[in-house]
Amino acid sequence: MTTLIQPHGGQLVNRVLEGEERLNWLERAKHYPTITANAVLQSDLLCIATGVYSPLKGFINQQDYASVCQHMRLQNGMIWSIPITMAVSEAQLETIKRHDYMTIKDQGSTILAVVQVEHIYRVDRLKEAEMVYGTTEERHPGVKRLYQTSPWCLSGDVRLLNRPQFGDFSECYHDPIMTRAHFQERGWKKVVGFQTRNPIHRAHEYIQKAALETVDALFLNPLIGETKTDDIPVEVRMKSYQTILERYYPQERVYFSAFPAAMRYAGPREAVIHAISRQNYGCTHFIVGRDHAGVGDYYGTYEGQHIFDQFSSQELEITLMFFEHSFYCKRCEGMASFKTCPHDTDAHVVLSGTKVREMLRAGKKPPSTFSRPEVVDILIEGMKSR
Ligand code: ADX
Repeated sequence: MTTLIQPHGGQLVNRVLEGEERLNWLERAKHYPTITANAVLQSDLLCIATGVYSPLKGFINQQDYASVCQHMRLQNGMIWSIPITMAVSEAQLETIKRHDYMTIKDQGSTILAVVQVEHIYRVDRLKEAEMVYGTTEERHPGVKRLYQTSPWCLSGDVRLLNRPQFGDFSECYHDPIMTRAHFQERGWKKVVGFQTRNPIHRAHEYIQKAALETVDALFLNPLIGETKTDDIPVEVRMKSYQTILERYYPQERVYFSAFPAAMRYAGPREAVIHAISRQNYGCTHFIVGRDHAGVGDYYGTYEGQHIFDQFSSQELEITLMFFEHSFYCKRCEGMASFKTCPHDTDAHVVLSGTKVREMLRAGKKPPSTFSRPEVVDILIEGMKSR
């Protein structure tokens, strides 16, 4: 039997209720004040309950909130870089205070969870933006969302009663307990995790396969939670992966699974949560390339890598695999980076996401050195159906 990497904090959190206990709580849930969860809250809820966000057992309290914002640690010293809070409206405060629990429903009124009412506190979203996102500009999509969120937060442990649904992709989602069992069954000692919010392109494939050369398996974990509206839609991204995986990846060494978190675009701070989440899924390694979880020019190209310098391997067990900005080089006739390629930038095929979207809109296909033709066809099809 392979010994798996420990979850962050040593124990995999499981707050998913089943059987009789679930039925009892479903009955009780009908009598508590309710909140309708938006997409981000649904993502956070599922990540907490299934252990993706271990060691969190619920929405964090005021002391943890302050400590996470300022020091990237929970109060007990454990690394945690983005506060996962549950916002409640001011109008609901008095009602909530009179109860021990609160019920979370989805937009279709299905009861998702019950949260224990531990404490209610007020936060300063402006300060949070500055500390967590490194900017207070509303132009930043994560900051914009933050400003739209009530400053009142409720802390308390969660009990998940029904799983939030993620369109057609609930099937592609596997809890950490399942991925861990799978890795163990396959005897994979080293598994590298990959985060993405984009359709697969050549540089992704290059760094994934370069990483796979040195480990036993690749855990491809595209994010399916909420992204900003101008990102490529999740159906298109997932289709690009499914198509390319079938044709160009070794089936016996790749585990494809959806990551239910929402994007916050917090760059380096989000890279830390992304790494911790993959450790919780059982990965021993995690890929961080250029401008990980970044947006616009808010973060430096390698800030998502440098942030890990401040943590020791005792504090964060997962091993990071850092990659330089990669591209196709016409003179090397292959994928390369500034580390491995001696040629001028004229020989490099580098296209930004914005440029690719522009090309697609104008009916132009990005070159096959940037993206495999199968992916380009899926992107064009995706554009048309929009
Ligand atoms: S992210 O927001 O999920 O980070 P994206 O899907 O573009 O965005 O990136 C997924 C991973 O691939 C990240 O670790 C990112 O740093 C890396 N990456 C994307 N493009 C490149 C590239 N051209 N060179 C090196 N790394 C890259």
